[in-house]
Amino acid sequence: GNLKPLAGLKLMLTAGPTREALDPVRFLSNHSSGKMGFALAEAAVQLGASVTLVSGPVALSTPSGVKRIDVESATQMQAAVMEDIDEQHIFIACAAVADYAPKVIAEHKIKKTSSDTLIIELVKNPDIVAGVAALENKPFTVGFAAETQDLEIYARDKLSRKNLDMIAANNVALAGQGFNSDNNALSVFWPNGQQALTLAPKHELAHHLLTLIADRYYDSH
Ligand code: C5P
Repeated sequence: GNLKPLAGLKLMLTAGPTREALDPVRFLSNHSSGKMGFALAEAAVQLGASVTLVSGPVALSTPSGVKRIDVESATQMQAAVMEDIDEQHIFIACAAVADYAPKVIAEHKIKKTSSDTLIIELVKNPDIVAGVAALENKPFTVGFAAETQDLEIYARDKLSRKNLDMIAANNVALAGQGFNSDNNALSVFWPNGQQALTLAPKHELAHHLLTLIADRYYDSH
């Protein structure tokens, strides 16, 4: 087959968690390691793409040849994505974006009070991948879905609701794959088809997924 199926294409990814500040010293976040997104960025360069990686806070080094933009919050991640999205042929949303963020960021450290409870009001974050897929001149848009049950039903619902071209779903209830793991297995769905990518190291899986993305991209262009 073609060794560089992504040659000549610009590809942008999001990866890692987001951090939603509560006050100057605290935030809400999640356990995403960013490993899958970084593995995809590295593989995309090897397959010939020009790669921009918009990353939340992670403890990973930048794969060589990748243009990396570091962000913290979902709002910052969306701004960084939108800044450069018009040039992209392919967009892959790997980030574990916080669904909600504190409504206000306290100017000073929130103090402990005599009350045993503390209520923090949250507001919904922008859906970054849905925003990209809603663009008139949208890139080939790929989302991820982490599910614990009914993988295909939830994945296909996200595929159509967010207007994606492809979705890669993984079962996060299974041990030894997904969040923070070095291995992963994916069920990939698109409007007229699907393919299972079996348990493999994330860098190997990244190659398989990108080859599939290149196939589907050229099928629709
Ligand atoms: O709806 P759910 O969060 O499960 O969808 C996951 C997919 O949507 C992932 O591709 C994720 O990167 C993307 N997403 C996003 N912005 C959000 C929430 C999720 O881009 N605010």
